Amino acid sequence: MKIRKAVFPVAGLGTRFLPATKSCPKETLPLVDKPLIQYVVEEAIEAGIEQIIMITGRAKNAIEDHFDKSVELELLLEGKKDYKRLEMVRRISDMCEICYVRQKEPKGLGHAILKARDVIGDEPFAVILGDDIIHSENNPAIGQLIKVYDEKNAPVIAVQKVPMENVSAYGVIEPKPAGDRVYQILSMVEKPPREKAPSDLAIIGRYILTPEVFDYIEATAPDGRGEIQLTTALDAMLADGAIYACQFTGTRYDAGDKLGFLQATVEYALRSKELGGPFREYLKNLPL
Ligand code: UTP
Repeated sequence: MKIRKAVFPVAGLGTRFLPATKSCPKETLPLVDKPLIQYVVEEAIEAGIEQIIMITGRAKNAIEDHFDKSVELELLLEGKKDYKRLEMVRRISDMCEICYVRQKEPKGLGHAILKARDVIGDEPFAVILGDDIIHSENNPAIGQLIKVYDEKNAPVIAVQKVPMENVSAYGVIEPKPAGDRVYQILSMVEKPPREKAPSDLAIIGRYILTPEVFDYIEATAPDGRGEIQLTTALDAMLADGAIYACQFTGTRYDAGDKLGFLQATVEYALRSKELGGPFREYLKNLPL
Protein backbone atom coordinates (compact mmCIF):
# COMPACT_ATOMS: atom_id res chain seq x y z
CA MET A 1 0.00 0.00 0.00
CA LYS A 2 1.34 3.46 -0.89
CA ILE A 3 2.65 5.57 1.98
CA ARG A 4 0.50 8.71 1.70
CA LYS A 5 0.47 10.10 5.23
CA ALA A 6 3.22 11.30 7.55
CA VAL A 7 2.98 12.07 11.25
CA PHE A 8 5.18 14.86 12.61
CA PRO A 9 5.26 14.82 16.43
CA VAL A 10 6.14 18.39 17.41
CA ALA A 11 4.66 18.58 20.90
CA GLY A 12 7.90 18.10 22.87
CA LEU A 13 9.09 20.84 25.20
CA GLY A 14 12.56 21.22 23.68
CA THR A 15 14.22 21.58 27.08
CA ARG A 16 17.70 21.03 25.63
CA PHE A 17 17.28 24.28 23.76
CA LEU A 18 16.12 26.52 26.61
CA PRO A 19 15.81 29.45 26.93
CA ALA A 20 15.18 29.81 23.15
CA THR A 21 12.31 27.31 23.36
CA LYS A 22 10.52 28.92 26.31
CA SER A 23 8.01 30.58 24.01
CA CYS A 24 9.28 29.66 20.55
CA PRO A 25 8.86 26.07 19.28
CA LYS A 26 12.23 24.51 18.53
CA GLU A 27 10.80 23.35 15.20
CA THR A 28 10.60 26.98 14.11
CA LEU A 29 14.23 27.81 14.87
CA PRO A 30 15.72 28.88 11.53
CA LEU A 31 18.47 26.91 9.85
CA VAL A 32 20.01 29.69 7.76
CA ASP A 33 16.68 31.12 6.51
CA LYS A 34 14.08 28.36 6.87
CA PRO A 35 12.51 26.94 10.03
CA LEU A 36 13.58 23.38 10.85
CA ILE A 37 10.06 22.08 10.29
CA GLN A 38 10.03 23.28 6.68
CA TYR A 39 13.09 21.19 5.86
CA VAL A 40 11.40 18.01 7.03
CA VAL A 41 8.06 18.85 5.41
CA GLU A 42 9.90 19.38 2.11
CA GLU A 43 11.67 16.03 2.60
CA ALA A 44 8.29 14.31 3.02
CA ILE A 45 6.78 16.00 -0.05
CA GLU A 46 9.83 15.10 -2.15
CA ALA A 47 9.25 11.47 -1.14
CA GLY A 48 5.63 11.57 -2.32
CA ILE A 49 3.78 12.15 0.98
CA GLU A 50 0.35 13.70 0.37
CA GLN A 51 -0.98 14.43 3.84
CA ILE A 52 0.79 15.63 6.97
CA ILE A 53 -0.48 15.20 10.50
CA MET A 54 1.27 17.41 13.04
CA ILE A 55 0.95 16.45 16.69
CA THR A 56 1.21 19.79 18.44
CA GLY A 57 1.06 21.04 22.00
CA ARG A 58 1.02 24.26 23.94
CA ALA A 59 3.04 27.20 22.63
CA LYS A 60 3.29 25.62 19.17
CA ASN A 61 0.98 27.99 17.27
CA ALA A 62 3.90 29.43 15.33
CA ILE A 63 4.13 26.14 13.42
CA GLU A 64 0.51 26.38 12.24
CA ASP A 65 0.99 30.04 11.38
CA HIS A 66 4.08 29.25 9.31
CA PHE A 67 2.15 26.90 7.00
CA ASP A 68 -1.00 29.04 6.96
CA LYS A 69 -1.88 31.66 4.36
CA SER A 70 -0.70 35.11 5.44
CA VAL A 71 -3.07 37.55 3.76
CA GLU A 72 -1.47 40.73 5.17
CA LEU A 73 2.04 39.65 4.20
CA GLU A 74 0.91 38.69 0.69
CA LEU A 75 -0.87 42.03 0.23
CA LEU A 76 2.18 43.90 1.44
CA LEU A 77 4.57 42.05 -0.89
CA GLU A 78 2.15 42.45 -3.79
CA GLY A 79 1.95 46.20 -3.06
CA LYS A 80 5.74 46.39 -3.15
CA LYS A 81 5.81 44.33 -6.37
CA ASP A 82 8.21 41.94 -4.59
CA TYR A 83 6.98 38.96 -6.65
CA LYS A 84 9.91 36.70 -5.79
CA ARG A 85 9.21 36.77 -2.06
CA LEU A 86 5.46 36.68 -2.70
CA GLU A 87 5.90 33.44 -4.65
CA MET A 88 8.05 31.98 -1.86
CA VAL A 89 5.50 32.85 0.82
CA ARG A 90 2.60 31.41 -1.25
CA ARG A 91 4.53 28.22 -1.95
CA ILE A 92 4.81 27.52 1.79
CA SER A 93 1.08 27.71 2.43
CA ASP A 94 0.25 25.69 -0.70
CA MET A 95 2.84 23.02 0.04
CA CYS A 96 0.69 20.21 1.31
CA GLU A 97 -2.47 19.32 3.18
CA ILE A 98 -1.66 19.59 6.89
CA CYS A 99 -3.92 18.76 9.80
CA TYR A 100 -3.18 19.33 13.46
CA VAL A 101 -3.94 17.10 16.43
CA ARG A 102 -3.26 18.21 19.97
CA GLN A 103 -1.23 16.22 22.49
CA LYS A 104 -2.35 17.90 25.70
CA GLU A 105 0.63 16.73 27.74
CA PRO A 106 4.03 15.69 26.38
CA LYS A 107 3.92 12.09 27.57
CA GLY A 108 6.46 10.75 25.13
CA LEU A 109 6.91 9.99 21.45
CA GLY A 110 4.75 6.85 21.59
CA HIS A 111 1.93 8.78 23.21
CA ALA A 112 2.23 11.54 20.59
CA ILE A 113 1.95 9.06 17.71
CA LEU A 114 -1.07 7.39 19.28
CA LYS A 115 -2.88 10.73 18.90
CA ALA A 116 -2.76 10.29 15.12
CA ARG A 117 -4.68 7.00 15.20
CA ASP A 118 -8.04 8.30 13.96
CA VAL A 119 -6.52 10.36 11.15
CA ILE A 120 -4.27 7.53 9.99
CA GLY A 121 -6.99 4.86 9.96
CA ASP A 122 -5.99 1.53 8.50
CA GLU A 123 -2.96 2.31 6.36
CA PRO A 124 0.82 2.33 6.75
CA PHE A 125 2.33 5.73 7.44
CA ALA A 126 5.58 7.61 7.93
CA VAL A 127 6.79 9.28 11.12
CA ILE A 128 9.28 12.12 10.86
CA LEU A 129 10.91 13.92 13.78
CA GLY A 130 11.42 17.58 13.07
CA ASP A 131 14.65 17.94 15.00
CA ASP A 132 16.49 15.24 13.05
CA ILE A 133 17.54 17.07 9.91
CA ILE A 134 18.96 14.83 7.19
CA HIS A 135 20.77 16.27 4.19
CA SER A 136 20.64 13.82 1.29
CA GLU A 137 20.67 15.48 -2.14
CA ASN A 138 17.84 14.18 -4.38
CA ASN A 139 17.39 11.08 -2.20
CA PRO A 140 15.18 12.03 0.77
CA ALA A 141 15.84 9.85 3.81
CA ILE A 142 12.15 9.01 4.28
CA GLY A 143 12.02 7.99 0.59
CA GLN A 144 14.86 5.53 1.24
CA LEU A 145 12.76 3.95 4.02
CA ILE A 146 9.70 3.82 1.77
CA LYS A 147 11.72 1.81 -0.77
CA VAL A 148 12.64 -0.74 1.90
CA TYR A 149 8.99 -0.88 3.03
CA ASP A 150 7.88 -1.54 -0.55
CA GLU A 151 10.35 -4.45 -0.74
CA LYS A 152 9.74 -6.02 2.66
CA ASN A 153 6.14 -5.02 3.25
CA ALA A 154 6.92 -4.53 6.95
CA PRO A 155 7.74 -1.59 9.24
CA VAL A 156 11.09 0.13 8.69
CA ILE A 157 13.15 2.29 11.05
CA ALA A 158 16.03 4.61 10.13
CA VAL A 159 19.35 3.84 11.79
CA GLN A 160 22.81 5.34 11.78
CA LYS A 161 26.12 4.21 13.25
CA VAL A 162 27.13 6.35 16.23
CA PRO A 163 30.28 6.24 18.39
CA MET A 164 29.83 3.66 21.20
CA GLU A 165 30.29 6.39 23.84
CA ASN A 166 27.13 8.08 22.54
CA VAL A 167 24.79 5.07 22.25
CA SER A 168 23.08 5.72 25.58
CA ALA A 169 21.46 8.84 24.09
CA TYR A 170 19.53 6.79 21.51
CA GLY A 171 17.28 3.82 20.91
CA VAL A 172 19.62 1.04 19.74
CA ILE A 173 18.88 -2.05 17.63
CA GLU A 174 20.19 -5.60 17.61
CA PRO A 175 20.67 -6.12 13.84
CA LYS A 176 20.73 -9.11 11.49
CA PRO A 177 21.91 -8.23 7.94
CA ALA A 178 19.02 -8.44 5.44
CA GLY A 179 20.24 -6.59 2.35
CA ASP A 180 22.27 -3.61 1.23
CA ARG A 181 22.26 -1.27 4.28
CA VAL A 182 19.17 -3.13 5.50
CA TYR A 183 18.87 -5.17 8.71
CA GLN A 184 16.18 -7.24 10.29
CA ILE A 185 15.78 -6.05 13.87
CA LEU A 186 16.09 -8.78 16.50
CA SER A 187 15.50 -6.49 19.46
CA MET A 188 15.70 -2.81 20.34
CA VAL A 189 16.16 -0.87 23.53
CA GLU A 190 15.74 2.79 24.43
CA LYS A 191 18.81 4.61 25.82
CA PRO A 192 20.79 1.55 26.98
CA PRO A 193 23.92 1.98 29.09
CA ARG A 194 26.95 1.57 26.81
CA GLU A 195 27.81 -1.91 28.13
CA LYS A 196 24.27 -3.17 27.45
CA ALA A 197 23.87 -1.67 23.96
CA PRO A 198 23.28 -4.45 21.39
CA SER A 199 25.17 -2.56 18.63
CA ASP A 200 26.27 0.90 17.55
CA LEU A 201 23.24 1.29 15.24
CA ALA A 202 21.12 4.08 16.70
CA ILE A 203 17.51 4.82 15.81
CA ILE A 204 17.10 8.17 14.05
CA GLY A 205 13.82 10.06 13.66
CA ARG A 206 12.34 8.44 10.54
CA TYR A 207 9.96 5.49 10.57
CA ILE A 208 7.51 3.66 8.32
CA LEU A 209 4.92 2.07 10.58
CA THR A 210 1.87 -0.09 10.10
CA PRO A 211 -1.40 0.61 11.95
CA GLU A 212 -0.89 -2.38 14.30
CA VAL A 213 1.61 -0.19 16.14
CA PHE A 214 -1.23 1.72 17.80
CA ASP A 215 -2.33 -1.35 19.81
CA TYR A 216 1.24 -1.90 20.95
CA ILE A 217 1.65 1.72 22.01
CA GLU A 218 -1.61 1.51 23.92
CA ALA A 219 -0.33 -1.56 25.77
CA THR A 220 3.02 0.08 26.63
CA ALA A 221 3.44 1.23 30.22
CA PRO A 222 5.00 4.65 30.85
CA ASP A 223 8.71 4.57 31.72
CA GLY A 224 10.31 5.98 34.88
CA ARG A 225 9.82 9.54 33.54
CA GLY A 226 6.14 8.94 32.80
CA GLU A 227 6.76 8.79 29.02
CA ILE A 228 5.43 6.16 26.62
CA GLN A 229 8.40 5.20 24.46
CA LEU A 230 7.86 4.25 20.83
CA THR A 231 10.96 2.01 20.94
CA THR A 232 9.45 -0.09 23.76
CA ALA A 233 6.20 -0.54 21.80
CA LEU A 234 8.11 -1.51 18.64
CA ASP A 235 10.26 -3.99 20.58
CA ALA A 236 7.05 -5.71 21.75
CA MET A 237 5.69 -5.64 18.19
CA LEU A 238 8.69 -7.72 17.02
CA ALA A 239 6.97 -10.76 18.55
CA ASP A 240 4.29 -10.51 15.83
CA GLY A 241 6.33 -9.92 12.71
CA ALA A 242 9.57 -8.65 11.24
CA ILE A 243 10.65 -5.02 11.52
CA TYR A 244 13.54 -3.76 9.40
CA ALA A 245 16.16 -1.05 9.81
CA CYS A 246 17.44 1.06 6.94
CA GLN A 247 20.91 2.56 7.33
CA PHE A 248 20.09 5.61 5.23
CA THR A 249 22.65 7.60 3.29
CA GLY A 250 22.93 11.30 4.05
CA THR A 251 24.22 13.60 6.76
CA ARG A 252 22.11 13.81 9.86
CA TYR A 253 22.10 16.66 12.37
CA ASP A 254 20.51 16.57 15.82
CA ALA A 255 19.09 20.07 15.51
CA GLY A 256 17.25 19.78 18.83
CA ASP A 257 20.61 19.96 20.54
CA LYS A 258 22.61 23.21 20.68
CA LEU A 259 25.85 21.80 19.25
CA GLY A 260 24.02 19.78 16.57
CA PHE A 261 22.08 22.89 15.60
CA LEU A 262 25.26 24.93 15.26
CA GLN A 263 26.87 22.23 13.10
CA ALA A 264 23.78 22.15 10.88
CA THR A 265 23.77 25.94 10.61
CA VAL A 266 27.41 26.11 9.52
CA GLU A 267 27.11 23.28 6.99
CA TYR A 268 23.81 24.48 5.48
CA ALA A 269 25.22 28.00 5.24
CA LEU A 270 28.30 26.66 3.44
CA ARG A 271 26.03 24.77 1.00
CA SER A 272 23.84 27.81 0.34
CA LYS A 273 24.08 29.18 -3.22
CA GLU A 274 23.58 32.72 -1.98
CA LEU A 275 25.65 32.69 1.23
CA GLY A 276 28.12 29.81 0.80
CA GLY A 277 30.89 31.88 -0.85
CA PRO A 278 30.93 34.89 1.49
CA PHE A 279 30.36 32.69 4.55
CA ARG A 280 33.34 30.47 3.65
CA GLU A 281 35.47 33.62 3.27
CA TYR A 282 34.26 34.87 6.63
CA LEU A 283 35.15 31.57 8.34
CA LYS A 284 38.60 31.49 6.68
CA ASN A 285 39.41 34.91 8.02
CA LEU A 286 38.28 34.24 11.58
CA PRO A 287 41.19 34.56 14.00
CA LEU A 288 40.71 31.01 15.41
P1 UTP B 1 12.74 14.82 21.85
O1 UTP B 1 12.94 14.20 23.16
O2 UTP B 1 13.90 14.99 20.94
O3 UTP B 1 12.12 16.26 21.98
O4 UTP B 1 11.56 14.11 21.11
P2 UTP B 1 11.79 17.16 23.19
O5 UTP B 1 11.16 16.38 24.28
O6 UTP B 1 11.02 18.30 22.64
O7 UTP B 1 13.25 17.70 23.52
P3 UTP B 1 14.10 17.83 24.83
O8 UTP B 1 14.71 16.48 25.01
O9 UTP B 1 13.20 18.27 25.94
O10 UTP B 1 15.11 18.88 24.45
C1 UTP B 1 11.59 13.76 19.74
C2 UTP B 1 10.43 14.35 18.98
O11 UTP B 1 9.19 13.91 19.52
C3 UTP B 1 8.36 14.99 19.84
C4 UTP B 1 9.28 16.20 19.98
O12 UTP B 1 8.59 17.40 19.64
C5 UTP B 1 10.41 15.88 19.01
O13 UTP B 1 10.12 16.31 17.70
N1 UTP B 1 7.62 14.69 21.08
C6 UTP B 1 8.29 14.23 22.15
C7 UTP B 1 6.26 14.88 21.10
O14 UTP B 1 5.63 15.31 20.11
N2 UTP B 1 5.58 14.59 22.25
C8 UTP B 1 6.21 14.13 23.35
O15 UTP B 1 5.54 13.88 24.36
C9 UTP B 1 7.60 13.95 23.30
